[in-house]
Amino acid sequence: MPTTPAARVYRPIPANLVRLSRVLAQGGLVAAPTETVYGLAADALNAKACASIFRAKGRPANDPLIVHIESLAQAATIAEFSPAAFAVAKAFWPGPLTLVLPKKPGVPAIVTSGLPSVAVRMPAHRLFRQLIRLSGRPLAAPSANPFGYVSPTTAEHVRAGLGKRIRHILDGGACKIGVESTILDLRDPLHPVLLRPGCISREALQAVLGKPVSIVKRQSPTAPQEAAPAPGMLERHYSPRTPVVLVRKVTPKLVDAIPADEAVLLLSKPSRPTAKNIFWLTPAGKLSQAAHRLFDRLRMLDDGSWKKIHAETIPGKSALAMAINDRLARAAAK
Ligand code: TXA
Ligand code: MG
Repeated sequence: MPTTPAARVYRPIPANLVRLSRVLAQGGLVAAPTETVYGLAADALNAKACASIFRAKGRPANDPLIVHIESLAQAATIAEFSPAAFAVAKAFWPGPLTLVLPKKPGVPAIVTSGLPSVAVRMPAHRLFRQLIRLSGRPLAAPSANPFGYVSPTTAEHVRAGLGKRIRHILDGGACKIGVESTILDLRDPLHPVLLRPGCISREALQAVLGKPVSIVKRQSPTAPQEAAPAPGMLERHYSPRTPVVLVRKVTPKLVDAIPADEAVLLLSKPSRPTAKNIFWLTPAGKLSQAAHRLFDRLRMLDDGSWKKIHAETIPGKSALAMAINDRLARAAAK
């Protein structure tokens, strides 16, 4: 892995935004907050700049990037918009929704891993949008973490993971949502497919599209790469170093059976007095707070010296429950 001088963390003041947008316009990398997670941004139309994203993350070249834009006019220079794509974009942008669409010729092959489609998103975060606007470019940005590790939701998470491999981190505080965008494959507007669950629900998408959205089956990491129907949908992802096991419902009996050097991560605060190895995502079981804290808690537990993390899955079928369970399942995948 290439190493550079330690990253500088910038406060979100106008002078720094101007400076960082110049870095981007000149082909440099900048980690910056979005409403979902921190992204590692580069000029999406500069193949060399995008190549350095893959290098910094240690990301395989067959895992394409999301291109972030700040207007529908800019989106139309990147991707081919069908009426269906236009309708969902109108309904959910700016926001945590990524659309996979047929790509326009100007997008470098490295961004899409050579695919004829491109992933596009209009983020809602004020700072990220300013970087797009000030740099005058669409910005390619995967999550700003070393490939395969838990996504970052604070500037400190980015620094801990990539601080020796990148030079610029914009600190915009903790990301509001905390889990990555919903990804909708609309290459064929007649057959929309949900590639990644996020805070925008399948039901909400179906309501706008007026047709069912099917769900992609996650690929096992042992499946042959060339057979990949949706790149980056590998089972193992978002993984702490500590082994994670999923538990449907943590009962007091189970807690008693778990050794003291293994941690338990619950959705909400338990009512009875708790042992030192019991943690929770949200005191009162509020799912938006659970999502907001998920990656930070996983990182915190991973930095402790726990032998194992027993993570309780979230009951129900809401978008956030499915998104959190998806990330937990990936963290637990062998
Ligand atoms: O919330 C988010 O989406 C964040 C923020 C930074 O915007 N970004 C993010 O990027 O999560 P990343 O690279 O960690 O995940 C993007 C996913 C990858 O699994 C990738 O394989 C998939 O999108 N993807 C990108 N282009 C694709 C395409 N043309 N077809 C299918 N999947 C694609
Ligand atoms: Mg990622």
